Amino acid sequence: MSVRIYVPRDSGALSMGAETVSDAIAAEARHRGLDLTIVRNGSRGLYWLEPMVEVATPAGRIAYGPVSAADVPGLFDAGFVTGGSHRLALGPAEEIPYLKRQERLTFARVGIVDPVSIDDYREHGGYRGLERALGLSGAQVVEEVTSSGLRGRGGAGFPAGIKWKTTLETAAKTKYVVCNADEGDSGTFADRMIMEGDPFVLLEGMTIAGLAVGATQGYIYLRSEYPHALRTLNEAIAVATAGGFLGDDVRGSGKSFRIEVRVGAGAYICGEETAMLESLEGKRGMVRYKPPVPAIVGLFNAPTVVNNVITLASIPVIVEKGGDFYKEFGMGRSRGTSPFQLAGNLKRPGLVEKAFGVTLRELVYDYGGGTVSGRPLRAVQVGGPLGSYFPASMLDVAMDYEAIAAAGGILGHGGIVVFDDTVDLARMARYAMEFCAIESCGKCTPCRIGSTRGMELIDHIIENRNRAANAALLRELCDTMTNASLCALGGLTPLPVMSALKHFPGDFGLPDAGA
Ligand SMILES: Cc1cc2nc3c(=O)[nH]c(=O)nc-3n(C[C@H](O)[C@H](O)[C@H](O)COP(=O)(O)O)c2cc1C
Ligand code: SF4
Repeated sequence: MSVRIYVPRDSGALSMGAETVSDAIAAEARHRGLDLTIVRNGSRGLYWLEPMVEVATPAGRIAYGPVSAADVPGLFDAGFVTGGSHRLALGPAEEIPYLKRQERLTFARVGIVDPVSIDDYREHGGYRGLERALGLSGAQVVEEVTSSGLRGRGGAGFPAGIKWKTTLETAAKTKYVVCNADEGDSGTFADRMIMEGDPFVLLEGMTIAGLAVGATQGYIYLRSEYPHALRTLNEAIAVATAGGFLGDDVRGSGKSFRIEVRVGAGAYICGEETAMLESLEGKRGMVRYKPPVPAIVGLFNAPTVVNNVITLASIPVIVEKGGDFYKEFGMGRSRGTSPFQLAGNLKRPGLVEKAFGVTLRELVYDYGGGTVSGRPLRAVQVGGPLGSYFPASMLDVAMDYEAIAAAGGILGHGGIVVFDDTVDLARMARYAMEFCAIESCGKCTPCRIGSTRGMELIDHIIENRNRAANAALLRELCDTMTNASLCALGGLTPLPVMSALKHFPGDFGLPDAGA
């Protein structure tokens, strides 16, 4: 029987040379007359080991990594096709501690299955959630989602069940499900990993959402920087449609649901749900006033469920196993698991799916291994470009929406970016204002004008021009932006700025007491 070798097709692995590794393995096998089947899987999310190649053996999948094309002949010489020992051998993939200690519910299949094989998906438990949903009423499905405690993973943490209930109960001829795959936050890649590694789980989640609320059309709003995800999603949509899992008669239910991918044009603000709807309608991405909320008046004025990729990809396991199963994970009002994405100055960057409640310290040290530079850790930005900078002394904070908020931050989309002691937090604060100025949609004054004034003020502070007075003015400006901005871009930009001022006043030339 042909030996199965897994070489990821995930963008992260490709950027580290997975394509040439795959080609080298195929060529070497031909040269040696060996019968191999190369499966292009997603990434397991252990990015410092990519390209991580796995070989299926009777004892399970044995991993090797990071593999380069030059390593390939030596791997064959060492008998890696039967799991032979080699300096790159990592042992059974599932036993690698970084993976073994995770609680993978949403990412259960990522890195394991062939992303575009619906048979593989089903053999690994796929479409069981949809099968169950087809036997329930829309209200019963919504109840399951509500009881799971699932909150939106895109940033705002709004309960998914309440959103779905609102759309379900809004009478309309046409309704939509829109998946927010804009993934603009710095240091985040969980959405991409799902779309490239297990696209069917997202399609299944969207289909369940559509059937539950009475929508017949779904759109995935995908950031343009994800060409591999686009290819994989379109392939998966075609396969699911051919298999009767999408289309006019989903699994013989008589109900219709279709999905199309729409590619964005690279604006951070188009991740904000109302700007995204404008963009989907073919207009410039400008934020809309709320209310009305999209669940009532959304895409083309129709009731629309807007959810993040991870929110929707968490639906199948919830509907299959029940809300009670899912809510057993987590702490407080943060139920279930979340994919935390470790990036920046870390020895072991990657994706860690854990129940809410894991501490930032565990993620940064137990998983991330501390700084790759070997220098002391100085700051961690949690929650993307609008998230706070936490000093090393605050790493015991639990990753939970409320605990992070009480510590002065946001969880956002679960991105964690680590900096060592060479970082200058005054420059990072300036960068936050600059980012806001560049990405502002321009609709409201505190954000459009405030961000540019904020940049100037930080320049004055850094250059010691009227430092104390300008620091006071910066605080006042941040207060105005927080309270008077129309959306969270202007409203949250003060978080990185004020946290930098509070925890690292010395970088601004300010005394501790001035913080
Ligand atoms: C400036 C800005 C950018 C955002 N970018 C994203 C994004 O890239 N992806 C995302 O899912 N949500 C993003 N959001 C949050 C969305 O507005 C919205 O809350 C989310 O798509 C709802 O889905 P959820 O409830 O499943 O999280 C952004 C919000 C703001 C204010
Ligand atoms: S806060 Fe900024 S991005 Fe949001 S509506 Fe106002 S100008 Fe637009």
